[in-house]
Amino acid sequence: MSDVVTLERQGDIAVVTVNNPPVNALGIAVREGLQNCFKAAEADPEVKAIVLVCEGMTFMAGADIKEFGKPPKSPSLPEVVAGIEAGNKPSVAVIHGTALGGGLEVAVSCHYRIARKDAKVGLPEVKLGLLPGAGGTQRLPRLVGVPKALDMIVSGNPIGAPEAFELGVVDKLIEGDLLSEGIAFAQQLLMDGKGARRTGERTDKLEGVDNAGAVAAKRAEIEKKMPGLFSPQRCVSAVEASFTLPLEEGLKRERELFGECLTSPQRGALVHAFFSERQASKVDDLPKDTPVREIKSAGVIGGGTMGVGIAICFANAGIPVKILEISSEARDKAIDRARDTYGMSVKRGSLTQDALEKRMGLISGVTDYADLGDVDVVVEAVFEEMGVKQKVFEALDANCKPGAILASNTSSLDLNKIAEFTKRPEDVVGLHFFSPANVMRLLEVVRGEKTSNEVLATAMAIGKKLKKVSVPVGVCDGFVGNRMVFQYGRESEFLLEEGATPAQVDGVLKKFGMAMGPFAMRDLSGLDIGLAIRTRQRQTLPAEYKLPTILDKMAEAGMLGQKTGKGFYVYEPGSRTPQENPDLPPILEAASKEQGVERQQLSDEYIIERTIYALINEGAKILEEGIAQRASDIDVIYLNGYGFPAHQGGPMFYADAVGVDRVYAKICEFHDKLGAWWKPAPLLEKLAKEGRKFADL
Ligand code: 3HC
Ligand code: NAI
Repeated sequence: MSDVVTLERQGDIAVVTVNNPPVNALGIAVREGLQNCFKAAEADPEVKAIVLVCEGMTFMAGADIKEFGKPPKSPSLPEVVAGIEAGNKPSVAVIHGTALGGGLEVAVSCHYRIARKDAKVGLPEVKLGLLPGAGGTQRLPRLVGVPKALDMIVSGNPIGAPEAFELGVVDKLIEGDLLSEGIAFAQQLLMDGKGARRTGERTDKLEGVDNAGAVAAKRAEIEKKMPGLFSPQRCVSAVEASFTLPLEEGLKRERELFGECLTSPQRGALVHAFFSERQASKVDDLPKDTPVREIKSAGVIGGGTMGVGIAICFANAGIPVKILEISSEARDKAIDRARDTYGMSVKRGSLTQDALEKRMGLISGVTDYADLGDVDVVVEAVFEEMGVKQKVFEALDANCKPGAILASNTSSLDLNKIAEFTKRPEDVVGLHFFSPANVMRLLEVVRGEKTSNEVLATAMAIGKKLKKVSVPVGVCDGFVGNRMVFQYGRESEFLLEEGATPAQVDGVLKKFGMAMGPFAMRDLSGLDIGLAIRTRQRQTLPAEYKLPTILDKMAEAGMLGQKTGKGFYVYEPGSRTPQENPDLPPILEAASKEQGVERQQLSDEYIIERTIYALINEGAKILEEGIAQRASDIDVIYLNGYGFPAHQGGPMFYADAVGVDRVYAKICEFHDKLGAWWKPAPLLEKLAKEGRKFADL
């Protein structure tokens, strides 16, 4: 019937097959095909039941996200699902992979559903700034009840097929061939005399529960946990319509709310985040046929904070890993730390004791480089000192087999120099994990001057295997993320010296959507790290680059953050809740005086401009130098490593949204007023003058 959706008959069962790689997204061709095939099957007197199945890696994974923002084409998805549900012949959706968003909406418009045991189903639209717009908010509550539907739709998190079976979303769990299972299920329905069973007509799960209470509780939860997000409250309003309005009116209400989300700027930002993440894994100048080395075993040098986290990443991916430490005591401590980390997951209930033992079985400790002779990749995570790194890389060069990948987790040292400590600089690459390495999704893959294509391609593949968001970056001080965050941190400190308080700056940036304010973050990681950078900068930078002095003054007073119980905030013993530090105001005043600045009230807008525009200006310099491949890669780094809000799209997307010309004008103003740090990036100037955006590059 069409290229992407076909209809065939097997006895009295019509089989509708969707084949639209890679994820069977419901673009216009699929929608048309589904509508035509279901209509034809309904009209064929020989057909008694219909089976819907998908080719490839997954059932339909949702509407075609690329179509958002373009003029809508008929038939719309709501029309298609309404047609399927209205059919008089029983229809069965056979689910494998992920039935997400519009895909699940199609499945629940079929009269029955069977699913592979390892399949997942969900309505993740909220993660794209949307709500399920093809009946999902009306039909899912009819299957699982309002409270569970609210949880699924507002979180956007999918559930596994076994849970879906328990809840009644799925009628049977299957293991065998999709098509044969689908046909067998349909034949059984016919034998049992079962006909159409329309989800939209069900009301049993909507009754006898305090639905209004569940709605009120979810609204309060959103208010607290996701303030400023546009679509979650609208998801709740749509679900509310499922029990306050008849189906047809509920669907209409859902459509209106979906339309509001579709035009919201947050939708644009979140869709940008989705595609940017997928784009980031592609290295533009790497030939498609670049071979990738097989990685079956790993080594980690240094079992400290980062090394243990990195080893856990390998074990989680099923790759055996050896941690090398300087002594047997340090080695044993590292292994204990890995076990403790897993132990906390067991305590939280996210890991079974069995799984802990299996993963610990993949982690071993060694003290001798000879034990690393057979590993395929080594990640060095020792102290951040060039002399120490030199010794490690010389030892790796002498002991590792030819073809082993030698990676460094350095956060600021020159990777090219590190590579020169070996006779195989082409095998050296940076794998810059973020702390805690087993939790944070970001991985900067640092490409040295001599890193070979094969090693880079393998490093990107390792990132994927470890379930990281891997972004290739070039060599410079701090790479992309930390180089930019230096600017942000310094400007935040200057704001304190100009008159703001930590709570004010943190509050404004949290309202903007940042996961944490810069000062709460500083307290968490310890002020000594920032202080060391400042001290180094003070020694090396030309005099026109003025630096804040607040950190030095706080360190003198013993305020180093959470570790000393006092920093920008104070902390009760054992607590991480920041409270106002009563000893800070005199220090702020002294710093202001020293800088010759009169303290004044600063506006929220000014705080955003000083901090976020500092990121944008540095990002533009990074792009121009080719340290990042594309503006969207910088966004991916910020979204996944620095708590930048996804609904703002990342710093470079935000610049486009504000207007590059406006950002440029403000940065010029800051340059005149505040000096050298604010010299506008030439690329920013060029884009502003040409009326272009970062997205146009
Ligand atoms: N539309 C268009 N393209 C999509 C897509 C979609 N819904 N989902 C995935 N793709 C593309 C990706 O961009 C990628 O393309 P590329 O190869 O050119 O980079 C390719 O499919 C493979 O995707 P992944 O790299 O993400 O593959 P994974 O195997 O890691 O993950 C997945 C597969 C779980 C399906 C994941 O892609 C995903 O979560 N997709 C989004 C699902 C979603 O959000 N659905 C809801 C859409 S909104 C909706 O349905 C509205 C409706 O209610 C009206
Ligand atoms: P850490 O001090 O917690 O751990 C370093 C470990 O290396 C110690 O256990 C030490 O015993 C071991 N070690 C030192 N010299 C060694 C040698 N010659 N051979 C074997 N082991 C040796 O340090 P951390 O924080 O884990 O940092 C490690 C590296 O990771 C540094 O390069 C750092 O810049 C980088 N990094 C740190 C991040 C962080 O947030 N802590 C984030 C990203 C990168």
